[in-house]
Amino acid sequence: MEAVEKLAFTLLELMVESLGLPPCRTHKHFESSRTSLFRMNHYPVCPAPELALGVSRHKDSVALTILLQGDVEGLEVKSKDGEWIIVKPNPDAFVINVGDVMQVYSNDKYQSIEHRVVVNKNVERYSFPFFFRPAHWVDLCPIPELTSDQCLPKYQPFKWGKYLRRRFDSNYKDLGVPNLQISHYRVNV
Ligand code: OGA
Ligand code: NI
Repeated sequence: MEAVEKLAFTLLELMVESLGLPPCRTHKHFESSRTSLFRMNHYPVCPAPELALGVSRHKDSVALTILLQGDVEGLEVKSKDGEWIIVKPNPDAFVINVGDVMQVYSNDKYQSIEHRVVVNKNVERYSFPFFFRPAHWVDLCPIPELTSDQCLPKYQPFKWGKYLRRRFDSNYKDLGVPNLQISHYRVNV
């Protein structure tokens, strides 16, 4: 986890730099009361893969996901024209997903990727995502230097910890609204 987190910081720096900002601009957001986590997924063989999904379509509510997916296919990403495209496994490489946090930081320059996992009849599958997420206390919003009178912020600030809490709660009870998404904080500009 420590090594992968180090890689996550490096990728974050490169992406922040690509937006024209000092590479360490957002570091402090990831430094105390951290919420990053590592998960191990197991997808058993499925007798009727056309009737089931391993994980239904979603976007990761993280800054970046660093995923090791072994050598069994399953992960699919949605292309701009709505096609599901399989991400060919390469056991010597990580898959990097851009998540919702990068989308908010960058005021939509980076887009969070929609993805899902399909299951398969013959072989079980394992995958190992590391979810790189900000600290609880962070007020998430587009990075102010990236917005101006000509380029207004597309999201109102929201407390990251509270957002996670509400998403977590909605895993267990029906809150009467669809699962909370960053789009709830989008403002019309
Ligand atoms: C996830 C996810 C992909 C995979 O856990 O959020 O998208 O390949 N996993 O298991
Ligand atoms: Ni995911």
